[in-house]
Amino acid sequence: MKRIIAVSNHKGGVGKTTSVVNIGAGLARSGKRVLLIDLDPQANLTISFGIQEAEKTIYGSLKGEYELFPMNVGENLDIVASTLDLSGAETELSSEAGREYILQELIEPITGNYDYIIIDCPPSLGLLTINAFTAVEEVFIPLQPHYLAIKGLAKIIEVINKIKRRLNKSLEITAVFVTLYDKRKILHRDVLQTIKTYFGDRVFYTKIRENIALAEAPSAGNDIFSYDASCNGADDYRRLVKEIIEMEDKDNG
Ligand SMILES: Nc1ncnc2c1ncn2[C@@H]1O[C@H](COP(=O)(O)OP(=O)(O)OP(=O)(O)O)[C@@H](O)[C@H]1O
Ligand SMILES: [Mg+2]
Repeated sequence: MKRIIAVSNHKGGVGKTTSVVNIGAGLARSGKRVLLIDLDPQANLTISFGIQEAEKTIYGSLKGEYELFPMNVGENLDIVASTLDLSGAETELSSEAGREYILQELIEPITGNYDYIIIDCPPSLGLLTINAFTAVEEVFIPLQPHYLAIKGLAKIIEVINKIKRRLNKSLEITAVFVTLYDKRKILHRDVLQTIKTYFGDRVFYTKIRENIALAEAPSAGNDIFSYDASCNGADDYRRLVKEIIEMEDKDNG
């Protein structure tokens, strides 16, 4: 089974990139062939794997200069790197015919090489994110348990529904999960409850707790399993990955 997933939330700093790194690494460790695509000009995903400057990036591919250029960063794990130059892409591509489908066209020839393709979206709902939404079937939304985070959800749901109607009928929000969670905070528990009333069983049982090792690992160019296999962050992402793999059975049956 092949899954193509965008990890998106237009709110910044909610744990998108951290989740893409560690879900990707966890899936690869479970024997899945994984490609991660950094679609954010901040290039945090790229940097998290210790890549400072890549020769070929998503930017050049989107501009039509070359095909996607996956770089191997571990067993079963490849990444398409990003670069700050990507910040100009939205304007540069805005007058292209079929500008919403450029990424989809790039991904199509290599889907056979992977079990999972996961796209790290920028914190916006502009043309780059729309390119992700036309290229995938699934959207995962990481959320920080704050009231304002719930308010922001209405916007991303609206955009996804519009893309689904107009550009990609297969698009679905298949998972929502909470990051930077602290169960001692009553607010966090309340917000989690509210999210469950919106999304029901699409909310992952696993909550990613606040854990400093998750913030430290990228500076070592490591995923959490290599950095500290026994910390809470590694435990949480291990459990999240298990839930993601279990969805495969649900979808088949
Ligand atoms: N569970 C966690 N515990 C502690 N720190 C975390 C956790 N998850 C993420 N962080 C830290 O919080 C910051 C924001 O996380 P991250 O970069 O993953 O968010 P993002 O949604 O990708 O941000 P952006 O919108 O800017 O792309 C980073 O410094 C990261 O290391
Ligand atoms: Mg990010």
